[in-house]
Amino acid sequence: MTIDLNALRREFTSNGISREQMNVSPFIQFEHWMKQATEADLTLPNAMSIATSCSDEVSIRTVLLKSFDDQGFVFFTNYNSKKSQQIKQNPNAALLFPWLDLERQVKISGRVEKISTLDSIKYFSSRPKDSQLGAWASSQSDSISSRQVLLAQFEAMKNKFKKGEVPLPDFWGGYRVVPHSIEFWQGRENRLHDRFVYLKQGKDWVIERLAP
Ligand SMILES: Cc1cc2nc3c(=O)[nH]c(=O)nc-3n(C[C@H](O)[C@H](O)[C@H](O)COP(=O)(O)O)c2cc1C
Repeated sequence: MTIDLNALRREFTSNGISREQMNVSPFIQFEHWMKQATEADLTLPNAMSIATSCSDEVSIRTVLLKSFDDQGFVFFTNYNSKKSQQIKQNPNAALLFPWLDLERQVKISGRVEKISTLDSIKYFSSRPKDSQLGAWASSQSDSISSRQVLLAQFEAMKNKFKKGEVPLPDFWGGYRVVPHSIEFWQGRENRLHDRFVYLKQGKDWVIERLAP
């Protein structure tokens, strides 16, 4: 290997975060950090990794956070995809926002549930028509023999839904990750980073500082 990965060291220098600065609500705290990530002009600050698993495999991929509130964090996908198959077997999942330019990350663990069909329809109908057709055309995670197959499928869907609105596919929609733990990580000097985790206890959230 000709790349010296050991040379890629970075000293974190941010001012850090204190217990007093953390909002009592992890959702308000998240909103605050998401706002700063958006204002910092990061590439897709709403891109998050989602890890899912079944009994003999863990897998991870990027999806886009489309909304959040105190119920949880919502993304959209194909309900037959690999992630969806795993969620069916094990609804526990983890999310990661790697906001590296801000020397921050947010880690979320929770249980995944489907959002209502009505809410999926609302989001689906707000998408550009070509994205809607793309959802219809792709049997996400399946093996396909060539890109031509995908393009032909896209054309077929374009033709099928030539007139009027493109309906929500019954194999596509939103999931909500309902969190039981949300951790805010801020890089600091000498690898003595700040970490605060919010843990759900009954209806309340308790905040703990974690060793870096
Ligand atoms: C920046 C970025 C955003 C993505 N957003 C989504 C998304 O919101 N929903 C989705 O299903 N796939 C999204 N993808 C594609 C997924 O990473 C992945 O290829 C797909 O969901 C299949 O995952 P699976 O086969 O493990 O289920 C995105 C990929 C990238 C790189």
